[in-house]
Amino acid sequence: MTRRVAVIGAGFMGSMHASIFSSAPNCKLAAVVDPNVELARAVAARCGNAKVYASHDELLAAEKLDLVSICTPDNLHRAPAEAVAAKGVNLFIEKPIASTVDDAKAIIAAARDARVKLGVGYLLRFDPRYARAKELIDEGRIGAPIHLYARRNSARTEGPKRYAGKLPLALHVTVHDVDLVLWMLRGQHPVSVYAQQTDRLLGPTGTQDSIAAIARFSDGTVVNFESAWSLPSGARHMIDARLELIGTEGSFEVQCGDSGLYFADNDRSQEMDTQHWPTLAGRVGGDLRQQLLAVLEWLEGADRPVASGEDALRSLELTLAMIRSAETGEVVRLG
Ligand SMILES: NC(=O)c1ccc[n+]([C@@H]2O[C@H](COP(=O)([O-])OP(=O)(O)OC[C@H]3O[C@@H](n4cnc5c(N)ncnc54)[C@H](O)[C@@H]3O)[C@@H](O)[C@H]2O)c1
Repeated sequence: MTRRVAVIGAGFMGSMHASIFSSAPNCKLAAVVDPNVELARAVAARCGNAKVYASHDELLAAEKLDLVSICTPDNLHRAPAEAVAAKGVNLFIEKPIASTVDDAKAIIAAARDARVKLGVGYLLRFDPRYARAKELIDEGRIGAPIHLYARRNSARTEGPKRYAGKLPLALHVTVHDVDLVLWMLRGQHPVSVYAQQTDRLLGPTGTQDSIAAIARFSDGTVVNFESAWSLPSGARHMIDARLELIGTEGSFEVQCGDSGLYFADNDRSQEMDTQHWPTLAGRVGGDLRQQLLAVLEWLEGADRPVASGEDALRSLELTLAMIRSAETGEVVRLG
C-alpha cells in the first residue's frame, strides 16, 4: 500500500526528509509546506513535483495523508502537530519534540486523543553501531551499567551558524546523547544532574561554546555528557562523537569521529559525512534515511526503535534540567 506523506518545513532537515520520502518504496511525497513558498517549490521540484502549500491549514484542507513529518523550528512544532493529529493523521516530528515541556505534553496528548502514531526523530538509534551497542546491553553482555561517557563535539562553523540565538547547544546537540543513554538504560530513570557551560567564544552570537553534565541514574549508573560546537573551523572531524560504557561484565566504545572518508583540497581538509545524511547518487542516505524507512515500516505495524513521544519528553526533561543546572550552578533533583 502506498503511503501519502507530507513534510512541513522545507529547510535544512525538511528538504532531506522530502528527498527521502520521495524515493522510498511504497511511499508518495504528496506535499511540502513552508511559508517560504519559493523554498517549498524548489524542494518539491527536486522531489517528484509534490504539491506546495504555505501553511498546514491549507495542506490539511486539501490532502488526504497517512503521515506528516514536521521539520519546523523546535518552538514551532506544536501548532502543526496538534492540527495534524486532529485530522487523524500520523505524526513524525524532528527532535527535540518541542522546546518546552508544556508543548511536548500537548503534542503527546493530541496524538493520544486522536489515536494516531507519534514518532520523534532520534536518528542515531538507526546507526548500526549504537543499535548493536544497545543489543549488547539487552543481551546481558556488559552486565549492569556502571558508567557512561557521551561526547559530541563539532566545529563553530556548523551548528552555531544555523542555530545560534535560536536554541541552546544542549537542546540541539546533547539531547541526541540523552536520548541514546535513556534508550540504553531503559528501566532506570535519572535522579539528579549537575552541569556547567561556557560561552566565552560564542556568547556574543547568543549561544554556548560547550556544556559538561554529570547525571546519576536510579540504579546508581553515572553518565558524563560533554558537548561543544566551538571547535575551530579546521577541526578534523565533522562531529567528534563517542559513547563509552563500563559495565560489571563488559564494556563498549562507539567511536563516530572518523567517518572513514577524509577529503582535502586547497581550501580545506575534513572528514566528510558518511553517517547522518550523505548524498549518494543524488539520494540522501545515512541514518536519516534508515530512520525514515523504518518509520514507514512502523506505520505498517512493524516493531522499529522509533523514539516515542514519551521517550522524547523524557530526553527533553533531562536536557532542560541540565540547562537549568548550568544556569543556576545547582544540582537539579529529578523524580
Ligand atoms: N535530527 C537531527 O540531527 C537534526 C539536525 C538539525 C535540525 N534538526 C531539527 O529539525 C527541525 C528543523 O530544523 P532545520 O535545521 O531544518 O531548520 P530550518 O530553519 O533550516 O528550517 C525550518 C523551516 O521551517 C519553516 N517554517 C517555519 N514556520 C513554519 C510553519 N508554521 N509551517 C511550515 N513551515 C514553517 C521555515 O520557513 C524554514 O524553512 C528542528 O526541530 C531542529 O532542531 C534535527
